[in-house]
Amino acid sequence: ELGTYPHYMIKEINEQPQVMRKIIKEYQDDNGDFKIDDAIIKQLNDADRLYIIAAGTSYHAGLIGKEYIEKWAGVPTEVHVASEFVYNTPLLSEKPLFIFISQSGETADSRAVLVDIKEKGYPALTITNVVGSTLSREADQTLILHAGPEIAVASTKAYVAQIAVLSIVAAVTARELGKKSDLNLMSELGKVTTAITSVIDDASTIEEIVKNFLETTRNAFFIGRTMDYYVGLEGALKLKEISYIQAEGFAGGELKHGTIALIEDGTPVFSLITQEKVNLNTRGNAQEVAARGANVCTIAMEGLEQEGDSYIIPRVDEMLTPLVSVVVYQLISYYAALHRGNDVDKPRNLAKSVTVE
Ligand code: F6R
Repeated sequence: ELGTYPHYMIKEINEQPQVMRKIIKEYQDDNGDFKIDDAIIKQLNDADRLYIIAAGTSYHAGLIGKEYIEKWAGVPTEVHVASEFVYNTPLLSEKPLFIFISQSGETADSRAVLVDIKEKGYPALTITNVVGSTLSREADQTLILHAGPEIAVASTKAYVAQIAVLSIVAAVTARELGKKSDLNLMSELGKVTTAITSVIDDASTIEEIVKNFLETTRNAFFIGRTMDYYVGLEGALKLKEISYIQAEGFAGGELKHGTIALIEDGTPVFSLITQEKVNLNTRGNAQEVAARGANVCTIAMEGLEQEGDSYIIPRVDEMLTPLVSVVVYQLISYYAALHRGNDVDKPRNLAKSVTVE
């Protein structure tokens, strides 16, 4: 199964362009337009508000999905951590639709919410990688991620698949609601696929970044704003779970409200710049920490780069940058764990699917 790869994680990172192509194909109709089942479109049309429920990496994908659904389709959407939602349910709208995002389809925290909302008679849609999983069987409808089996404990290709499928759900919902859009999602996802390939081909440059920024550190911070903030949360989770470096993701503007106290000489801070609107704000935050000794690694998208940036990712539509920028963070985490001699695929204390609450 591993073929020539030393670990499942790097194999699964490398499979991401293939996963993108598979999703683009699976979600097309005969005319070459994106489609999803009519029953799911009906669920989405009937809802006045969407509640995305998930855990961990899948929750991070949900944060990005919310942006697509609200910005493209105009449907109000909330994203909740399953383990909190179940014991602290917010006020619900009149006609909620619950969307469960889960690679495994077995996460107990998410299932607890599903059981609860089904008892209350609300509709549910599960987005999962595993056909026939519990969350899929118990929801009214399912969308499949088509990422293929994910073996490494740290989720990589499932996250990219979740975001791609959510973008399709949002675009189809927008179309069904008669919303006009300048974005040709089909061709943009094609460009994203090419961009992911180019980052993967550049893995040796990213390994150098690890040597320069993470070789001896005990902690690391990830900053960014809007989409880049959400990707930073995922980058930090990935880094801590396999390298055991304490890592936290922050909204660029929030780091100075307390956490900046932790910045010492040499503390690595990854600063992600893919959104023109907030480019200079995040750069300002990076300068604040650099002035206190932080070792800032700036990852910028082509067109927004400045001299001194550490890595440039190819230009794609600004809403879709998470699909590309996350690959840089996945590779950073992989090499950081590898250089520390850790068990990359089976980090300590973790299981692939968490089936206890
Ligand atoms: C992190 C990771 C976990 C899972 C979480 C939810 O790399 O894999 O955070 O994302 O346990 O799992 P699923 O998506 O199977 O519900």
